[in-house]
Amino acid sequence: MHDKKIRLGILISGRGSNMQALVQACKDQDFPAKVSCVLTNNSCAAGLRFAENEKIPTIVVADKPLDICRIHAILVKYRVDLVCLAGFMRILKADFLEKWKNRVINIHPSLLPAFKGLNAQEQALKAGVNMTGCTVHYVTPEIDSGSTILQYSVPVFPDDDLHTLSERILFVEHKCYVEAIKLIAKVKLCN
Ligand code: GRF
Repeated sequence: MHDKKIRLGILISGRGSNMQALVQACKDQDFPAKVSCVLTNNSCAAGLRFAENEKIPTIVVADKPLDICRIHAILVKYRVDLVCLAGFMRILKADFLEKWKNRVINIHPSLLPAFKGLNAQEQALKAGVNMTGCTVHYVTPEIDSGSTILQYSVPVFPDDDLHTLSERILFVEHKCYVEAIKLIAKVKLCN
């Protein structure tokens, strides 16, 4: 068993299936991370109920514009080491990212640098590629442009539609996020 685990703060806006995958992975006593808190900008986020049921501290920060100072204070309060964006649909400003440099990661449903931004699965279908996937990457002020931690690929079949392709990508997203945390933990816990 790891005597020290990295503490995750997971930020969600909706369904939260990636958050759920991380929570499940953290139940393994040999997994090198634990979830300190789940934070959302959306009080109706479906993922919130899951986190509450798991007795994970949940916090709603619904301020518009996003209250970055409040988010920072919450992450400090819960002694978060690594901020994991998991379908968090708000932009984090540069000054926040500077404070949390190399400690904010995101999962994106494409093989970056291909198909940045919204609707990446739809972009892949329109482009007619035969391979796409997902990327876990560090978050920098320029959207979907920070360095890559891990990528998993999936095939695109001729009869795919948005639903079938999105499901295939989501399946590997859950595995990719968990493996990416292991990679980061290996480096962090050795230093
Ligand atoms: C995922 O496809 C993720 O790659 C993207 O937003 C979606 C979030 O899904 N950033 P979920 O809320 O984790 O189910």
